[in-house]
Amino acid sequence: MAVPQFSLSPYLQFLTLVIFFILSVFVVNSHADEPPLTLEYYQSSCPTALEIVRKEMECAVLSEPRLAASILRLHFHDCFVQGCDASVLLDDTITLQGEKKAPPNINSLRGFGVIDRIKNKLESDCPGVVSCADLLAIAARDAVILVGGPYWDVPLGRKDSRSASFTLASTDIPTPNQGLLTLISKFILQGLSATDMVALVGAHTIGLASCQNFRARIYGDFEETAGRNPLTETYLSNLRSVCPATGGGDKNKSAMDYITPNYFDNAFYRILLKGEGLLNSDQEMYSSLLSIETKHLVQKYAVDMLAFFQQFSDSMVKMGNITNPDSFITGEVRRNCRFINT
Ligand code: HEM
Ligand SMILES: *[C@@H]1O[C@H](CO)[C@@H](O)[C@H](O)[C@H]1NC(C)=O
Ligand SMILES: *[C@@H]1O[C@H](CO)[C@@H](O)[C@H](O)[C@H]1NC(C)=O
Repeated sequence: MAVPQFSLSPYLQFLTLVIFFILSVFVVNSHADEPPLTLEYYQSSCPTALEIVRKEMECAVLSEPRLAASILRLHFHDCFVQGCDASVLLDDTITLQGEKKAPPNINSLRGFGVIDRIKNKLESDCPGVVSCADLLAIAARDAVILVGGPYWDVPLGRKDSRSASFTLASTDIPTPNQGLLTLISKFILQGLSATDMVALVGAHTIGLASCQNFRARIYGDFEETAGRNPLTETYLSNLRSVCPATGGGDKNKSAMDYITPNYFDNAFYRILLKGEGLLNSDQEMYSSLLSIETKHLVQKYAVDMLAFFQQFSDSMVKMGNITNPDSFITGEVRRNCRFINT
């Protein structure tokens, strides 16, 4: 049989391919209306951005080392509520309820003044260019380096929200007396794994917790997890005098890493191996009956600082990548991190 000389089928095949290609581009785009974050985002629009943040963070951490911890925590509490969109930085106004007074944040988040100072410098160099959400992501990275932790490149291009969510801040941020499975599920909800969680909580290698957040732990199963030995007993009785069972002291503070409280290292995990974690949520990762997976990670990071640093860096990039799809449509670059633009 003779093959028709001018068969349409190659044309049809080609057309089908073209149509499929156009459709698939369209479909992919409609799913990912968010442009991915990039390392070069401010390279031409604000070449000094990274330097400005680093200099201000240097001054801040030099004047008060704990600010490194406070800024790192701000970024975490930002990203867990509507994505990393600087919603945590918004003040309450008549028309907007911020997140600062939500239970996990109230009387606890700090470092807002540092963010204001950095923002002022950025606005005088490159007005209206660098978002508060990006500022916070860079500042958190610099905070970690300044106290001896790992470096990672920070993908940029976030937009600032025009809204905040008191409700999500109250429900989605993990709290210290929740069980391991609840904690893990809160990370899964954000697209983060149990491995990300164990590494990210390693941030507790710096910073302080207040008595109201560890009272249940030191009058709870602390003795059970830590066992009885003179050094542990001394540590526990110190904690109990800082944080009495009754009669106040709620705001009294203690370091989560009592070995090297101002230094970003893996001592936090070694404390967990000893059963001496300060928060219930910290110790759960090692001592919970359900902790098979997380226990192994704690053991690994306790002996392998490099493994911890690598996973922490990767997980910080992942956490910093949590985005609210709306923020790219309705988002903006705030002029003042505390208020949406008018
Ligand atoms: C299971 C998850 C987590 C829980 C339950 C938790 C809970 C807490 C609590 C209760 C405090 C003490 C707050 C206070 O008393 O004022 C605290 C402090 C802190 N958290 Fe977490 N946290 C978690 C994960 C993280 C993550 C993922 C990061 C960062 C990557 C982080 C960074 C910090 C830092 C740096 C501090 C010290 C802040 C300061 O000294 O100002 N935490 N956390
Ligand atoms: C707070 O801690 C200090 C010791 O650091 C202690 O003397 C004081 O009694 C504590 N406050 C309360 C109300 O227990
Ligand atoms: C960041 O998120 C985008 C989608 O929003 C995804 O394509 C990309 O792989 C993520 N990157 C990382 C490092 O998680």
